[in-house]
Amino acid sequence: MKALVLSGGAGTRLRPITHTSAKQLVPIANKPILFYGLESIRDAGIADVGIIVGDTHAEIEAAVGNGEAWGLNVTYIRQDAPLGLAHAVLTAEEFVRGDDFVMYLGDNVIKGGIAGLVEEFRREAPAAMILLARVPEPQRFGVAELEGDRVVRLIEKPDVPPSDLALVGVYMFGPSILEAAKSIRPSARGELEITDAIQALIDAGEHVRPHIIDGWWKDTGRLEDLLEANRIMLSDLVPHIEGSVDKTSEIAGAVEICEGAEIVRSSIRGPVIIGARTRVTDSFIGPYTAISEECTIEDSEIEHSVIWAGSTIVGMHRLEDSLIGREVVVDRTERKPKAYRMMLGDHSRVDVV
Ligand code: TTP
Repeated sequence: MKALVLSGGAGTRLRPITHTSAKQLVPIANKPILFYGLESIRDAGIADVGIIVGDTHAEIEAAVGNGEAWGLNVTYIRQDAPLGLAHAVLTAEEFVRGDDFVMYLGDNVIKGGIAGLVEEFRREAPAAMILLARVPEPQRFGVAELEGDRVVRLIEKPDVPPSDLALVGVYMFGPSILEAAKSIRPSARGELEITDAIQALIDAGEHVRPHIIDGWWKDTGRLEDLLEANRIMLSDLVPHIEGSVDKTSEIAGAVEICEGAEIVRSSIRGPVIIGARTRVTDSFIGPYTAISEECTIEDSEIEHSVIWAGSTIVGMHRLEDSLIGREVVVDRTERKPKAYRMMLGDHSRVDVV
């Protein structure tokens, strides 16, 4: 069995971060989202992994390399344009032909991994197995209609959902998915939809098996979901202090302070992770915050946020529910006239009070 990890895509919902970065590499609890998926694949006993890459291929390749850090054997597969999940499968035809494979969306996180699911797929040997989760807003997802242990219909983002069972971003396929993907036409939004390819399997009388997951899962394609994933992953944080904390600072709850980090005259209330060589001075860092390596935080209050590497935040009272990219500077100045001065990239978002 192989794995196909989808790490191309346009990432429009996470602009401007995705103007310059792959969304799959945004850190959750200071670890790239994609790495959680690679760990799950490894833990399911799968070693041959094809990674679909698009415009951000160089960044993904630099982060994952040949996969040996996970004991994986990684092949990169270039998709010329993000023309849909079924298009990604067809792009990987040579890699997956004749094999069973797990298709894992590189921006999804499933707590508890996929080992049991892969086992079930191997045992039952359906043409496809889809994972489903009960969600409050099914119209935002692909939705399944079931009859017993069979899926009878899949609809992409329906106005009137037939159930609250949304498709989770992990699928298991036998070889017949390739013919099904070849048989479909682009949808109204111009993509070859994987839901249409699976529907083609159903229509051909093949067994498509549902598995309703009860654990936590998140598609991190939007900011609020990404912050929630960060929150959930930080909830499991094991306290560990390697960096330095001065006598006037206060650490409470689950806090990890990585090697070379310095906490000076500050209060850190976990769960919080402070990355290597980051310096926090005269600040409060509140629950569910992950600050990556080599950041500078001064005279600020930050809570429920993700700060990526090399960023500087000074005099922010206070920052919440935020995602800050790499090498961003948010500063306070005494310069007159008193005003907000900004240089923001396209599609940036700022809320001021
Ligand atoms: P999506 O989040 O559905 O699509 P997207 O990345 O284009 O984002 P947006 O809707 O915000 O513009 O994609 C799910 C995952 O699959 C994600 O990791 C990107 C990847 N993907 C591909 O690799 N190729 C594709 O053709 C598509 C559509 C997605």
